[in-house]
Amino acid sequence: MKIWLGAAAAALIFASSAAADTIKVGVIGPFSGPFALQGKNFKAGIDAWFALHGKSVGDHTVEVVYRDVPQADPAQSKALAQELVVKEKVQYLAGFYFTPDAMAATPLLKQANVPMVVMNAATSAIVTKSPYVVRTSFTTWQTSTPIAKVAFDAGVKKMISVVSDYGPGVDAENAFKAAYTAAGGTVVETVRMPLATNDFSPIMQRVKDSGAEGVFAFLPSGPTTLGFVKAFNDNGLKAKGVKLFAPGDLTQESDLPALGESALGMQTTFHYAISHDSPENKAFVEAAAKAISNPKELSFPAVGAYDGMYVISKMIEATGGKQDAEKAVEAVKGLSWTSPRGPVTIDPESRHITQTIYLREVAKTADGSYYNKEIKSFEKQGDPGLAAAK
Ligand code: PHB
Repeated sequence: MKIWLGAAAAALIFASSAAADTIKVGVIGPFSGPFALQGKNFKAGIDAWFALHGKSVGDHTVEVVYRDVPQADPAQSKALAQELVVKEKVQYLAGFYFTPDAMAATPLLKQANVPMVVMNAATSAIVTKSPYVVRTSFTTWQTSTPIAKVAFDAGVKKMISVVSDYGPGVDAENAFKAAYTAAGGTVVETVRMPLATNDFSPIMQRVKDSGAEGVFAFLPSGPTTLGFVKAFNDNGLKAKGVKLFAPGDLTQESDLPALGESALGMQTTFHYAISHDSPENKAFVEAAAKAISNPKELSFPAVGAYDGMYVISKMIEATGGKQDAEKAVEAVKGLSWTSPRGPVTIDPESRHITQTIYLREVAKTADGSYYNKEIKSFEKQGDPGLAAAK
């Protein structure tokens, strides 16, 4: 009798997971506080996905459950990821703006049988922390490597590197140093700032004192980047002819109105520009602009989230809605599609996204608004950070 009951219960569980179900996706990001705009862009990208492709995958309905981690806070991220898995019974974890928040949730994945789709966090090593991590954003190795050659070819031979002192900043520094030195340039000094730094005057003084002809800089996009670029312009470095080169985090579109004329001509390398000229991007930007209250607030986390939802929909398709993290991740290894950013592939070995990195320049439209204008493409860029870490 006992045995029979057990089998019946198992059959019931099996039947309920195979039938038409609501599949929950838990999304962790900064939805309040100084970085709220970045979280808002996760939501805009996800809503754009639903607007263009619907909420159904086969017989199943996708539901997103949001959790707020306002600033990098690994303990809070881990607690919320646990709550999402245990109480909300999410089948997928996604989002993660900051590296420490993504890292903190990776130890849960295996036991919970849950894949994680990283929609922003950009430190190379995240994908090595669990075989269930897939990333649809970028790494700072990927975005910072091409700008080194651009800077050297522009005639800037001595540079100082200034980064936020945590995962993606350290990766950016290493990437820049490796590529710039290989090109023939000299890094005269490297500066790592605490993540919470918001007074950049002492840093600008160090830049002046270093005698560098150019600055390489990485900070996570948000109030930090806006403050840094403003300080660079206001401290007379730009006027002195010192050049600023950076990955595109420093010129996210939502910051351009506040930076105004002073950012004009600034060159950055990145995986996505709102201005990218393609039918896929036109449809995406239209839908994402509707999803966000002010279209001028659109920025790159939206595309990482939109593509993340595509990956999750493919995972749901492959598993027929059943919770099977291994099968889900296996199904998207090698997956290629045309993203709003251009052609992309989930590299089957690293589970990180291979994509085109664009050189862009801050330009002005005829009606006076600023944008990142793509001027050169570096195609099929994998993540050099993974090879470097080996
Ligand atoms: C990160 O914490 O990994 C991160 C955050 C914002 C960025 C880039 C990287 O713009």
